[in-house]
Amino acid sequence: MKAVVFDGTRAVSVQDVQDPEIEQPTDVIVRVTSSALCGTDLHMYDGRTGAQPGLVLGHEPLGVVEQAGPAVSAVSVGDRVVVPTHLYCGTCLHCSRGLSAACSRVRPGGFGAAYGYAGMGPYRGAQAELLRVPFADANCVPLPGEPGDANEDAFVMLADAFVTGWHATELAGVRPGSVVAVFGAGTIGLLAAHSAVLRGAAQVFVVDRIPERLEVARSYGAVPIDFRDGDPVEQIRARRRADRLPPGEDGMDGVDCGIDAVGFQAIDRSDSAHENPRQVIEDLTALVNPTGRIGIAGVYAARDHAPAPAGHEDGSLRVPWAALFDKGIHVGFGRTHDRRYTALLRDLILTGRAEPQRVVSHRAKLDEAPAFYRDFDRRANGIIKVVMKP
Ligand SMILES: NC(=O)c1ccc[n+]([C@@H]2O[C@H](COP(=O)([O-])OP(=O)(O)OC[C@H]3O[C@@H](n4cnc5c(N)ncnc54)[C@H](O)[C@@H]3O)[C@@H](O)[C@H]2O)c1
Ligand SMILES: [Zn+2]
Ligand SMILES: [Zn+2]
Repeated sequence: MKAVVFDGTRAVSVQDVQDPEIEQPTDVIVRVTSSALCGTDLHMYDGRTGAQPGLVLGHEPLGVVEQAGPAVSAVSVGDRVVVPTHLYCGTCLHCSRGLSAACSRVRPGGFGAAYGYAGMGPYRGAQAELLRVPFADANCVPLPGEPGDANEDAFVMLADAFVTGWHATELAGVRPGSVVAVFGAGTIGLLAAHSAVLRGAAQVFVVDRIPERLEVARSYGAVPIDFRDGDPVEQIRARRRADRLPPGEDGMDGVDCGIDAVGFQAIDRSDSAHENPRQVIEDLTALVNPTGRIGIAGVYAARDHAPAPAGHEDGSLRVPWAALFDKGIHVGFGRTHDRRYTALLRDLILTGRAEPQRVVSHRAKLDEAPAFYRDFDRRANGIIKVVMKP
């Protein structure tokens, strides 16, 4: 089969690799109909993670079950399914609590696993014609309709992007009436903003510097904040004051909930040619009101193979703990617990309440992967989200 293979820093190719086979009676093989590119793939592409040449990339597949092992009972050959990024067994202690990103059975010596992902287990990636899916009864989420129908782009967002955006709003405790700021208008930030609006937030700000991404934020009902126009913390506070805070709430011109949808490769606002992995955490600490919450969905790498000046190889960072303590801010981190949200968000799509497909800016053939990796890495040509068709 054809697959996108990591060849080394800023190099991928489309190669013929061996077809996957059923290895366990609980496996299925899925024929991939759509497979998306993600900001997470770029951490590997940029040589920051220790990904080894030969790794088949990709973790956002939608497809149809082509073969099923004898112990699979919940899905059958021919079923249309989305396969969550972070695979899980479905029955261990963490899975039974809905904390599937910390599944204790899928990665020997660790917790949680993912497809095509450095350090996250031995699972081949999904930017390929076929994918082996272990524990298929748990990991195949059934979908109605036919491949290529009007929901194709929306459903592929269920593999990772939409569930992660939603998870970020859970981590940040977004409730009806919350005032929310999302840093990063990539797919994750945009779908966090969409999720916050769906959850009844009173106001949502989205911070970035890429105009076409900020326009999508606006289309979701968020207020775009371009950090090229000045400190985004000050811009949001000024905007809140201009909207007139209720009497007695003058000091509450920050936000209730802050979301980091950028991660360790954040742009340094004082020198945009460089990264500063502390930038977004520092901005959120300054912006979130006392007793507020911060949700961190952006990735912080345990080992950064080419750290920026404010970063460190082992991922340790100086964090403004005293300010967080003083304000009594609650901070939540981590990978998304796909099992909790996938079916729920699918149903929001089916009723037309959610439209995650608005972030899809480009559709491509799998063969075009090298060019799209290059352009996405440069955040060039208006790319927000690329969906590839094997
Ligand atoms: N927790 C999870 O389960 C999970 C799942 C998927 C992706 N992620 C991570 O989420 C992050 C975002 O992914 P994506 O696909 O949206 O990536 P992306 O690269 O498309 O988007 C990141 C955006 O952040 C913006 N940005 C950079 N520095 C900034 C700053 N200082 N302030 C505000 N915005 C800034 C960039 O301009 C860009 O638009 C990545 O770190 C990715 O690895 C986490
Ligand atoms: Zn992803
Ligand atoms: Zn498990």
